Amino acid sequence: MTPRTIPVEVFDLIVFGATGDLAQRKLLPALFYRDLQGQIPLAARIIGSSRRAMTRDAFRASALAAIEAHVAEDLRKPDTCKRFLDRLDYVAAEANQEAGWKELEKVLKPMDDRIRVFYLAVGPDLFGPICERLGSHNLVTPKSRVVVEKPVGKNGASARALNEQIGRIFPEPSIYRIDHYLGKETVQNLMALRFANALFEPIWNAAHIDHVQITVAETLGVEGRAGYYDTAGALRDMVQNHMLQLLCLVAMEPPISIDADAVRDEKLKVLQSLKSITADNMATQTVRGQYRAGASAGGAVPGYLEELGSNTSKTETYVALKVEIGNWRWNGVPFYLRSGKRLESRASEIVVEFKPIPHSVFDASAGTIRSNSLVIRLQPDEGVKLWLMIKDPGPGGMRLRHVPLDMSFADAFGVRNPDAYERLIMDVVRGNQTLFMRRDEVTAAWKWIDPILDYWRESPELPKPYTAGTWGPSAAVALIERDGRTWHESDVA
Ligand code: BG6
Repeated sequence: MTPRTIPVEVFDLIVFGATGDLAQRKLLPALFYRDLQGQIPLAARIIGSSRRAMTRDAFRASALAAIEAHVAEDLRKPDTCKRFLDRLDYVAAEANQEAGWKELEKVLKPMDDRIRVFYLAVGPDLFGPICERLGSHNLVTPKSRVVVEKPVGKNGASARALNEQIGRIFPEPSIYRIDHYLGKETVQNLMALRFANALFEPIWNAAHIDHVQITVAETLGVEGRAGYYDTAGALRDMVQNHMLQLLCLVAMEPPISIDADAVRDEKLKVLQSLKSITADNMATQTVRGQYRAGASAGGAVPGYLEELGSNTSKTETYVALKVEIGNWRWNGVPFYLRSGKRLESRASEIVVEFKPIPHSVFDASAGTIRSNSLVIRLQPDEGVKLWLMIKDPGPGGMRLRHVPLDMSFADAFGVRNPDAYERLIMDVVRGNQTLFMRRDEVTAAWKWIDPILDYWRESPELPKPYTAGTWGPSAAVALIERDGRTWHESDVA
């Protein structure tokens, strides 16, 4: 099947932080793929910028290296590479100084009528200074947009300050706060599954659903990002954004349309309905962990503290939470969230576990009747499984088995799944904010996260240790088993 692409208008995309990890690993390869699919008009330009002095040719060479490292060889034909590289330009500019900004003006000004996207692939401390320079150099045109990466702040107060800095120069409809999980194919499929089928919505509530689990498990450690990660931790890095956004898409009411504000209004209501976790239930509803040396992906790996080169860090590399939503639809249905680095396998999925049948008509020889569950697999092997009880085939009486109706997207559609960034960057150019976080969502998410962060910071307790290559600290098992439930290892292992 050939994927459909929606053509976009001619644009200039300016990537600040163009020599950094995100640009090289994600943004340039994503743009290359979109170019390859013919979605990017010939006249569109991609202008890299960072403080490092570099010629246009040197930047093109670094972009080519990034493409060679991240794009499949059979897709990198010399003519497609050349077409892509020809679009690239480079201007060195200092966020905190005047150096380079006149140059940027010279490159951009002749094309003032184009869509202009400023992508801030830099640390949040540079968001404000870059926006100010863009404003003072009159580079912000009516067709300009700014893209900011998470984390938007380190807590509610710093997020407010950042949003204000950006908001002084860009109006809210021009601000695109990226949460790349929203660009993942299966995450969008969650909306299709819920709102394009009549099957699920009538039972998508506390009367029929027992609980929901959201797991984002990684085998990687903190790689070269220990400096950033140690100031963030799993709660800020994964839960405040990715996991709460997933929870919102599962829990939200049907929006009146899939327009950006219609969807974001509903997600906001979920965030506002999250019941606070307080000192009284912190011990039963939260677990934080930190990995120790172990084995991952077949080899021995050091512990977090060794990677960091410090043995005093309390930063969590694992978090498990029991989250409750105080509204009519979800009252009494816990959402269990867990995410960690250096876990046994890479697996992200949402499990919706339905209530057990009210009465069994089968006798004991039929075996145990397990509840139905819907498993939405984000990665790897994107797909959806609906676990059902069926009769074991053949003679031998009525024996029941728990088996999945299994749809793997790769098998069903046979197409390469585009990286989230491919879709999201093109959505920015098209001016579609549906998959981006609105300011009030970010604020509401921090409002719920802040008390946990504050409690953990003040608490003398250390994160629970877990061995790299396992499923996290045993306290996370206790968190769910205390309620008579278990984590769905069978689907993630
Ligand atoms: C990022 C986090 O937002 O998401 C990383 O900062 C994490 O720590 C990554 O590894 C996970 O993304 P993905 O798409 O690989 O699941």
